[in-house]
Amino acid sequence: MPVMAPTPSLLLSPRPLTAGHRIPFSLPALPASSSSRLRARRARVDTRLRVAAPTSVPGEAEQAPGEAEPSTSSNESGEKFVWRDHWYPVSLVEDLDPSVPTPFQLLNRDLVIWKDPKSGEWVALDDRCPHRLAPLSEGRIDETGCLQCSYHGWSFDGSGACTRIPQAAPEGPEARAVRSPKACAIKFPTLISQGLFFVWPDENGWEKAMATKPPMLPKEFEDPAFSTVTIQRDLYYGYDTLMENVSDPSHIEFAHHKVTGRRDRARPLPFKMESSGAWGYSGSNSGNPRITATFEAPCYALNKIEIDTKLPIFGDQKWVIWICSFNIPMAPGKTRSIVCSARNFFQFTMPGKAWWQLVPRWYEHWTSNLVYDGDMIVLQGQEKIFLSASKESSADINQQYTKLTFTPTQADRFVLAFRAWLRKFGNSQPDWFGSPSQETLPSTVLSKREVKFSGYSHREHLCSFVFKASVSVSTYRSIYGYILISHELFMH
Ligand code: FES
Ligand SMILES: [Fe+2]
Repeated sequence: MPVMAPTPSLLLSPRPLTAGHRIPFSLPALPASSSSRLRARRARVDTRLRVAAPTSVPGEAEQAPGEAEPSTSSNESGEKFVWRDHWYPVSLVEDLDPSVPTPFQLLNRDLVIWKDPKSGEWVALDDRCPHRLAPLSEGRIDETGCLQCSYHGWSFDGSGACTRIPQAAPEGPEARAVRSPKACAIKFPTLISQGLFFVWPDENGWEKAMATKPPMLPKEFEDPAFSTVTIQRDLYYGYDTLMENVSDPSHIEFAHHKVTGRRDRARPLPFKMESSGAWGYSGSNSGNPRITATFEAPCYALNKIEIDTKLPIFGDQKWVIWICSFNIPMAPGKTRSIVCSARNFFQFTMPGKAWWQLVPRWYEHWTSNLVYDGDMIVLQGQEKIFLSASKESSADINQQYTKLTFTPTQADRFVLAFRAWLRKFGNSQPDWFGSPSQETLPSTVLSKREVKFSGYSHREHLCSFVFKASVSVSTYRSIYGYILISHELFMH
């Protein structure tokens, strides 16, 4: 019987240490979403109750079979959530390339991230040149260590100030134009904390930003008894879809069968809410493993899993695994996932500094990408149905959530708590800049097999280890195929 290492990938249950050790992360499968089922359900809309949501989701009216879903979207407490008054971790620092400018979208606003070689600091500017609005992210770091626009060569320093206009006359008003405030690029507040690069999306919010602490990883991430692993990836579905997914431990045994879950482990997950507000919510179950889930608005989901177990020779063990995910609203239908995980057991199966930690970071990423892939197709499909339902009725999805879905078990409690938070405090969607459109969502056109073997899903995989290795595309695919095959054989 091979010893199967628990993997820290994403929102998951550790794999069993032995065949006898089971993690009860599961429940009977909920009805799958499908357009035909949805249509059938919609056809019965006015004649029967379709919602039996878990009771006592904080802030929600209690519901029981036979009661109507409350239709109000008001926030009785008067608390407001301001999307632009928060720090957003936009990247793991180790996955940023200091040699080139990197484009990023935050709340539908285009940014360029680059490292100022003179100060050594990472900088975030509005991704538009003040000259004629070309994207600065298409530029380069020039010989003077400034960010140079690729269109006409204007250069900008780390403060956003223009340092050179190649076309300007050496004297007179043209020469002075370089010092004009109008020649400056717009700079955003930024900071680095615990290996994450944070951006404050309001260029006028410097004072507030400096007075606000960024969301923090738990203290165990600094504890030498724990090993950690991190990954980030851009996903082509919406912020709310991803937040819903990471608030839902019950999908793991099915969506990630034989990767991080097992279908036969499905069982009830009686979660209870503990507190909630504009800040987010927290709740837990009381079993073994004990799962404590916290949502810190707008995008931070923390899951602490505590497992009491017994090992031969070693005796009683208290295993702890943290899975902390940041789910960054880039644009409608596009979300960056950053996952940081720590655990105090089986460190030899994790990448690390110790000589015996032989697992490379990229291998962890392959496993994590299998988890992302397991969710991708169902989440895109689910999102399409939600969006079309919302379009048909011209109503917000969070208003109708419990009318469109059927969520009779406590396992869905955190999902409903997230939707309740989004509706009551978050104005039902991120405060996008500009005029966002949902039309840009991709179709779900690839089958699961196509996603796995085309490499499609890894184009947005941002692991610097993989890219820096300059592996050719064909080698890259061969290795990927080999690992997938090995993985399949191993799991069988
Ligand atoms: S648009 Fe940037 S230099 Fe002209
Ligand atoms: Fe998942």
